[in-house]
Amino acid sequence: MNYNKKTIDDVDVNGKKVLLRCDFNVPQDKETGKITSDKRIVAAIPTIKKLLDNGAAVIACSHLGKPKGEWKTKLTLAPVAERLSELLGQEVIFAADIIGDDAKAKAAALQPGQIMLLENLRFDAREEKNDPEFAKALADMAEVFVSDAFGTVHRAHASTAGVAAYLPAYSGLLVAKEISIMGKALENPVRPFVAILGGAKVSDKIAVINNLLEKADTIIIGGGMAYTFKKAQGYEVGKSLLEEDRIEYAKEMLKKAEDKGVKLLLPVDNYCAAEFSADAEPVLCEGDIPADLMGMDIGPKTVEIFTGAVKGAGTIVWNGPMGVFEFDKFANGTKAMAKALGESGAVTIVGGGDSAAAVEKLGFADKITHISTGGGASLEFLEGKELPGVACLLDA
Ligand code: 3PG
Repeated sequence: MNYNKKTIDDVDVNGKKVLLRCDFNVPQDKETGKITSDKRIVAAIPTIKKLLDNGAAVIACSHLGKPKGEWKTKLTLAPVAERLSELLGQEVIFAADIIGDDAKAKAAALQPGQIMLLENLRFDAREEKNDPEFAKALADMAEVFVSDAFGTVHRAHASTAGVAAYLPAYSGLLVAKEISIMGKALENPVRPFVAILGGAKVSDKIAVINNLLEKADTIIIGGGMAYTFKKAQGYEVGKSLLEEDRIEYAKEMLKKAEDKGVKLLLPVDNYCAAEFSADAEPVLCEGDIPADLMGMDIGPKTVEIFTGAVKGAGTIVWNGPMGVFEFDKFANGTKAMAKALGESGAVTIVGGGDSAAAVEKLGFADKITHISTGGGASLEFLEGKELPGVACLLDA
């Protein structure tokens, strides 16, 4: 996969209309619809400002949620337009449709230095189908396409990849930053390269483990997925998360690590509980986990081993929490790892989704080199998969 792509610094946008794909898929309060984190909107600001300062008229677009082709008032991008306008300190013209009369008229009238936002792309089923007519209609409003929606580059949709068939396509500053930092970590890492993987399921991370075994010096596995590996090593795991159908795969990965000389570290002790609850009493288990208990966090010995492996690392990539960090009693392992990353002096990259939320919730975000704005996208990046939203951009 070629990560060396042309960026907005390689195109003269003065007096041009630019279709800008952003990832404004922000979390909202279920009741009030209020945006609960504007991180993704904030992350898009540098590119928007640069385009506007350079004399472009910006037609921004994004999806929000999963309306699946239906017009769902709750998922309108109107609140995003409002927040974007506050952050930019200028009006954001909001279109009442996507490629309809209102959007087309507003796009046609848009002047250099002005910005408008189209309505939620996924209100039209043709977006996710990467329908060429829909992509062309989006492209027809502009002269240049800029992708700054890193969180969505793993999707081959009309607005993320399809439009590049009709317009010269460049990366925005956010996409450029994400692919350069993560690309370097994978292709040319400062060593030792330590990868930390957690989260609930082995099946979510199969391709990641396989790809990282080719690149990393040490792989640390914690979180729910570790129990399938412990079972593969012959331990009892009680009521812990277990994917029976992945035990063989876990065995293969343990063998592959050994053959390749990659250190693969697993928990040696765990805080367990009788039930999945924030109030459950933590019980420390070493080795086997009794039949009536489930693993909820890594234990103190494991914390020592895992944080020890992080010390002296040159590059650390982290994707997935070490335990049920949403419950305070079981957040210690994840917290200890976040702290160790912050103090490591290494290039530290945290994949989006749960691990990003954990680092933020636990207060270590400002100590991390790069927290990806992509959840699924950063995972597919670590898998070494081709990302349609990056592949479609012009090569540098
Ligand atoms: C995300 O939140 O990971 C991106 O916005 C992609 O959203 P999706 O999983 O609905 O395609």
